[in-house]
Amino acid sequence: MKRFDFLVLGSGIAGLFFALKVAPHGKVAIVTKKNRAESNTNYAQGGIASVTSKEDSFELHVRDTLVAGAGLCREAVVRTIVEDGPARIAELIRLGMKFSERTLPNGGGAGELDLGREGGHSKRRILHAKDITGHEIERALLNAVASQPNITIFENHLAIDLITSQKLGQAGGNRCVGAYVFDKNQQRVETFTARATLLATGGCGKVYLYTTNPDIATGDGVAMAYRAGAAVANMEFIQFHPTCLYHPKAKSFLISEAVRGEGGVLLSLAGKPFMDDSHPLKSLAPRDIVARAIDSEMKRSGADHVWLDMTHKPARFVIDRFPNIYQTCLGYGIDITKEPIPVVPAAHYQCGGVMTTVDGETGIAGLFAVGEVACTGLHGANRLASNSLLEALVCSNRAARRMGQLQLPEVHFEIPTWQSGQANNLDELVVVAHNWNEIRRCLWDYVGIVRTNKRLQRAQARLANLQQEIHEYYWNFIVTADLLELRNIATVAELIVQCALQRPESRGLHYNLDYPQADPAWAQRDSVVQKPG
Ligand code: FAD
Ligand code: SIN
Repeated sequence: MKRFDFLVLGSGIAGLFFALKVAPHGKVAIVTKKNRAESNTNYAQGGIASVTSKEDSFELHVRDTLVAGAGLCREAVVRTIVEDGPARIAELIRLGMKFSERTLPNGGGAGELDLGREGGHSKRRILHAKDITGHEIERALLNAVASQPNITIFENHLAIDLITSQKLGQAGGNRCVGAYVFDKNQQRVETFTARATLLATGGCGKVYLYTTNPDIATGDGVAMAYRAGAAVANMEFIQFHPTCLYHPKAKSFLISEAVRGEGGVLLSLAGKPFMDDSHPLKSLAPRDIVARAIDSEMKRSGADHVWLDMTHKPARFVIDRFPNIYQTCLGYGIDITKEPIPVVPAAHYQCGGVMTTVDGETGIAGLFAVGEVACTGLHGANRLASNSLLEALVCSNRAARRMGQLQLPEVHFEIPTWQSGQANNLDELVVVAHNWNEIRRCLWDYVGIVRTNKRLQRAQARLANLQQEIHEYYWNFIVTADLLELRNIATVAELIVQCALQRPESRGLHYNLDYPQADPAWAQRDSVVQKPG
């Protein structure tokens, strides 16, 4: 039994920033399933949206967020997060984050932060570290964490399930008192207890066959919270990033929206700019619109990809502003200063998640959720680019403060140790691999950018069959990391379909050909799923 005051599941921006905030108040465990830097955060390119320039205003950032969110954002939450942004950015800088600074043609600008632009933003407001913003955030935060004696990081530890008073048969309301965690090195399950637990496990891109996300993004937090009885909302709003590199050897490599922010243009395979008729912002329209336009262009022409062209920009500028994208593409034989980049849309961001307040509180006492795993109401039906890192910073700070106010008591009851299954049938591991692939293909084909009722129902039927098989495996065999993640992607896939079937309209990222219009009766209505009982 490992006892802490605060248990943090995940070591991306949300988990690390939160851990730093609560460390002065008690012992903190950060449990993370791979190495400490591996997270969606680590791959963030574009940057963090926040109002820092005189030409910009909170009002404009709020308006852009609400417009992108297509009528489903909670305005009060949007305002809180937007207005709290600059203070949290200043704090991140104090912790050691180095954002890119402006360089003017005359050599001036030093000391001023460079502001990028992305889809749906009416102003330049994206703070970035060239095109490796997330890597720099992880570096700075992990460095800060390393100097905190109260924080212990457990790498290669995969949280399996939350431990709740309800599951333990305790009377009174449901309270989270920790988690069962699989130590991948020792191949055994450990019990972590804490006064408060933070889910900071990120998103679920791996539920789809093609994604910009790294392998950690299997929706574990949403699945664990759902199993524990928390409400989960708006899972139908999966954001597809319009521009993932299309190359047989490239796995999940993003071409940042900032490339279009600096003048990159989307072209059909025949070399025609096809966004001109789709939106006044053309290639820089909000993501849902751009992704659908690319999908439609690919279906119309039968092409496997479209082009993103930067060749009209000076080569020196492209190499200096996007060094990671330039070098990575060059590694695949594409010189982006001389030729257009082949791109396709891919699953990128989970706008829904575990329902929380803006302070990260879930419906279960002692359980908080922050970052991509949570649904605060900021993103609505479509996240505005670079608002997620901002949300994670603001909400983890607020969650830490809220926990301080709540003064959660010590865990005083007995917690049973984990009971394993009896056998590990190695011959049948092919079933795990097969089910992984089947779920991911099923979601890609039936629950993608464009949906229909029939396809959603078909997905629901397939997933129900798979769930039965996975359930059997889970209870009959000793757990492995692959099996645990499979169980989670199956649950999350089902929740996405259930939410999509609840919404009889098209809104933001959820586009259903059977209801091609938004229904005003569904504005401000979340699609909520919660385990019965
Ligand atoms: P993550 O950073 O994903 O961290 C999750 C952590 O939880 C990881 O450490 C993971 O290992 C751990 N974990 C997961 N499950 C378990 C488990 N069961 N047990 C233990 N640990 C677990 N957003 C922006 O705002 N701006 C951008 O420029 C931007 N660019 C992006 C580029 C890419 C390629 C991608 C994939 C995303 C991008 N995003 C961007 C989105 C943004 O990066 C994420 O939404 C954000 O980083 C999420 O932070 P997080 O802390 O919530 O989760
Ligand atoms: C990007 O750089 O295009 C990603 C930005 C985001 O997802 O917010």
